[in-house]
Amino acid sequence: MLDLARAPKNPEVVVIRGVRAVDPSASLDAVVDIVVEDGRIVRLGPGAASAEQQSSERALVIDGAGLWVLPAFVDLHAHFREPGQEYKEDIRSGLRAAAAGGFGHVCAMPNTKPVNDTRAITEMMVARAREVGGPELHPIGAITKGLRGEELSEMADLREAGAVGVSDDGHCVTSSAVMRRALEYAKTFDLPVIQHCEDHALTNGAQMHEGLIATKLGLRGWPREAEDIIVARDLILAAGVGAKYHVAHVSTAGAVALVREAKSRGLPVSAEVTPHHLMLTDEAVVGYRTFCKVNPPLRESSDVEACRAGLADGTIDAIATDHAPHSSLEKDCEFQEASPGLVGLELVVPVVLDLVRTEALSLERFVDALTRAPARVVGIEPPTLRVGARADFVVIDPACEHTVTRESLASKSHNTPFLGRSYTGRVELTVLRGRIAFAAPPPLAPASKASR
Ligand code: DOR
Repeated sequence: MLDLARAPKNPEVVVIRGVRAVDPSASLDAVVDIVVEDGRIVRLGPGAASAEQQSSERALVIDGAGLWVLPAFVDLHAHFREPGQEYKEDIRSGLRAAAAGGFGHVCAMPNTKPVNDTRAITEMMVARAREVGGPELHPIGAITKGLRGEELSEMADLREAGAVGVSDDGHCVTSSAVMRRALEYAKTFDLPVIQHCEDHALTNGAQMHEGLIATKLGLRGWPREAEDIIVARDLILAAGVGAKYHVAHVSTAGAVALVREAKSRGLPVSAEVTPHHLMLTDEAVVGYRTFCKVNPPLRESSDVEACRAGLADGTIDAIATDHAPHSSLEKDCEFQEASPGLVGLELVVPVVLDLVRTEALSLERFVDALTRAPARVVGIEPPTLRVGARADFVVIDPACEHTVTRESLASKSHNTPFLGRSYTGRVELTVLRGRIAFAAPPPLAPASKASR
């Protein structure tokens, strides 16, 4: 755990001594010193910090023993609710949560109110985020106007205003004809098409994964086929067009297999998985827990295993949060009435690090899936640990024991099934452009051990 109580507030120099720095994009996994000046990494290597730098009054000097430094993370999938539903989250609180989670870049989904299907809204989001500072916000524009799945949005305008991809997330582009045109149009602007894969005809009224638990709870089920059918169809369309296609929040073993096969043919396809689909099954819904209602739903252990294996072997490129804030109005209600989604930006490290500890996922792949791989999907420059690079990194204490509470979350909403659980490992510090974007308070004592 870091104690920054007496640290200078905005240090001109940051020195981290003897820290394990991991960045697969720089073939780096070593214990080094890191020196930051004027927003950039100016020295990096064993014994790189000079005595003079370490004794300077302007310097924040951190003893990195037992800590890790990783490049700041990139999230492909967050819902910030601004404009329109700022009581759940706004750009300021969303970016604050992102910094607390170790993120330097966040892609914001377009299902705002109004929908981000125009240049004006994309520009507003970018401008608002610049005002706030901290992590960079990259809007994802809508594929179709109003997310209605009918008429394509003006992708040229969206791209020019700063959109890095298009998606109708929350809704699937159901029509094959519209999807084909969307892929053709997006290809012209080199924008990835990010699909929420759900055949709505198969999920009408569905509340959770279709299976034994849904039957026991008397809830209508969302079958795996609804996801697999759309992935299969879209891969056929994307192959024909030769466009960049990205599968949002993969949740089924079938979808993982389809993406793996498409990649083996060299198609420009990519995929993401969320921490909750890696760590929870439909059993978590027992008790009608609305915090476990999410779209796509939590599935069975065979799907969880397939998602983990897909992430480990690179079939699934990225870990994405699908940070979906909802207030108590949308969650403290009957299961059928509750909105789907859960907050995730702040909990990636504690929740997913368990997979690294049990060696289901290598640390290298964990870092890659949160940095270089997602950055590649949307074509942004990934943070990296190299001399001369912008100082965008996260300091993690992999041994810090702490409990997730409402008070420990920076997001305006607290709808996470991980609330009340204890974890080992957390973000201590997020440095963006050489400035401290987040510093963790002392942890609360652990209550109970996290379990799946
Ligand atoms: O559970 C979800 N919530 N899935 C989505 O695709 C949308 C999201 C939201 O916006 O709340």
